[in-house]
Amino acid sequence: MDLLLGDRIAIVTGGASNIGRQVALTLAQEGANVAILDLDEAGAQRVAQEVKASGGQATGYATNIADPAMVKESVDRVVHDLGKIDILANVAGWMFDELFLDETLEKQEKVVGVNLWGPMNMIRAVLPHMVTSEYGRVISVASDAGRMGEYKEAVYSACKAGVIALSKALAREVGRYNITLNCVCPGLTIPEAPETISAGSFWHENLDFWTDERQQKATRAYPLRRLGKPDDVANMVAWLASDRCSYVTGQTVSVSGGYTMM
Ligand SMILES: NC(=O)c1ccc[n+]([C@@H]2O[C@H](COP(=O)([O-])OP(=O)(O)OC[C@H]3O[C@@H](n4cnc5c(N)ncnc54)[C@H](O)[C@@H]3O)[C@@H](O)[C@H]2O)c1
Repeated sequence: MDLLLGDRIAIVTGGASNIGRQVALTLAQEGANVAILDLDEAGAQRVAQEVKASGGQATGYATNIADPAMVKESVDRVVHDLGKIDILANVAGWMFDELFLDETLEKQEKVVGVNLWGPMNMIRAVLPHMVTSEYGRVISVASDAGRMGEYKEAVYSACKAGVIALSKALAREVGRYNITLNCVCPGLTIPEAPETISAGSFWHENLDFWTDERQQKATRAYPLRRLGKPDDVANMVAWLASDRCSYVTGQTVSVSGGYTMM
């Protein structure tokens, strides 16, 4: 099925790495012109090159989504360069596993900055453009942690739950402008290869932990008996970003092989 993204301009945050990289590649493959926003500018440009090498259109931009001024500046640049914004895929995120009482306040503030303020800053910057054009698709990659609360991920879980509630509340506010907001919740989605993660990726410090044996054990918690692939998440993001999905808003979809069912 053609997702009809031919004339669409899409912003993908966190597009330099793992899931965001695949979201950028998939949206471009479906015809969208993609602006890749990431802290890791070289990584964003590398993925933009990958998109171009496969016949798509993409540009990399350096952005810190936790910084509202920088976000506004980047979004203005995208509008200047590409003319409009139809789709926002909030994919950038950051986390670590630690017991709540052991975490420093500094680390917790960083988690909130990236995972909650980040999507809020992005949405605040793109919405005026979408309201004016009376068209918009906002897809935020949250997490099953935000639906059920994950051990050693208390603040991260709270942020992801916040993004889900934010999307629902805003879906009520801006539905009248033909703007939809939905969330996609991955389960454990390990990068397919070390070269598909960016310098800013959480996976730098965690990839070695996930030996084949540990991955095999982890699959037991997943009814479909495998872990997620970036492609699984990207396909759902592309569907929610498409004109084929114009009557779905305020929804949260887990793409996690049945790990969470609600
Ligand atoms: N991979 C998983 O197992 C998993 C599971 C559930 C949810 N998620 C969510 O999916 C999303 C993507 O996960 P991933 O595994 O691809 O992560 P990743 O760590 O590989 O990539 C995240 C990207 O975001 C960028 N980034 C981090 N902070 C930023 C900031 N302040 N401003 C701009 N860019 C920033 C990083 O540079 C990196 O390129 C995240 O929101 C994550 O919380 C992932």
